[in-house]
Amino acid sequence: MSPVTSKTASPSDTEEGSLGQGQMRMRRLRASANLRALVRETYIRLEKLIYPLFIVEGSGIQKPISSMPNIHQQSIDIMLKEVEQVAEAGLKSVLLFGIPERKDPEASGAWKSDGIVQKATREIKKRFPELLVVADTCLCEYMSHGHCGVVEGAKILNDPSLKILARAAVSQAEAGADIIAPSDMMDHRIAAIRKELDAAGFEDIPVMAYSAKFASGFYGPFREAAESAPQFGDRASYQMDPPNIREALREIELDIAEGADIVMVKPALPYLDVISKAREITKLPIAAYNVSGEYSMVKAAAANGWIDERRVVLESVTGIFRAGADIVITYHARDLAKWLS
Ligand code: PBG
Repeated sequence: MSPVTSKTASPSDTEEGSLGQGQMRMRRLRASANLRALVRETYIRLEKLIYPLFIVEGSGIQKPISSMPNIHQQSIDIMLKEVEQVAEAGLKSVLLFGIPERKDPEASGAWKSDGIVQKATREIKKRFPELLVVADTCLCEYMSHGHCGVVEGAKILNDPSLKILARAAVSQAEAGADIIAPSDMMDHRIAAIRKELDAAGFEDIPVMAYSAKFASGFYGPFREAAESAPQFGDRASYQMDPPNIREALREIELDIAEGADIVMVKPALPYLDVISKAREITKLPIAAYNVSGEYSMVKAAAANGWIDERRVVLESVTGIFRAGADIVITYHARDLAKWLS
């Protein structure tokens, strides 16, 4: 390689060619809106967003979630009206979370054919057959203790949880869900779910695995929304330890080996490095979950007039895509649809 001072540096030595760095002016391509658009690298597209919904039993219910402005717990009738607006706005996918009337130690609400997510899925698919319904597959909303698996004493049992999760996934597929999205973080649940889906004739239903799901403080507002806070202890024995990126990549590799069709990193903004590294190790689509706490912080700051909400949301979600995500799950999806139309 020629020394940088050489007058005969070949064009291949630097991107800028023989002019050298002194004469390269990065601002040339920033001079006008059209120039900036011409060289823009990353876009948010509505078909790449998934909008989460929280469904409760009953009718006429639209209960605000205090920590998540504009997000509600909704009964199916009200939810259908929102889904209509969501579809009209150009969004293509929703993610369903259910809050059952009663919780029990078997998480029966997660797998009953008349469970809340199953009923909501049927109603959505009846009216909006094109809209993709992603079913969150987990037990915490349905378990009396609020953990994502079967509990014995203070322990969250892994293998006994798999059967229930797989049963829930099959009943969600029977109800018409287009994608099964297990968020529990039990080991081997992707294999267990894939096996039961296939056995039930749902070999064409994809699994979006919450592969690198970290034990995060950013889930706080969600637990109000889904009424799923653990009644004792925390989720640190099954969700990932936030400092670990190599372990996150192992989780992703394992889920791929078990048959995941899409892998996920969650939360999104504090884990952009994980998304970026995941992009390097897999050709599978990568989803990122821009979680409740990330949403609430933006909303709170915007409500105080401290930030420009539109700019900050566009910048954050663009950043998640730029890091390497193919799909972003976000509570901002409806606002984004409004701003980008
Ligand atoms: C658990 C689940 C959680 C979220 C999605 N699925 C919470 C948790 O693990 O406690 C969090 C989503 C969010 O914060 O927006 N089934």
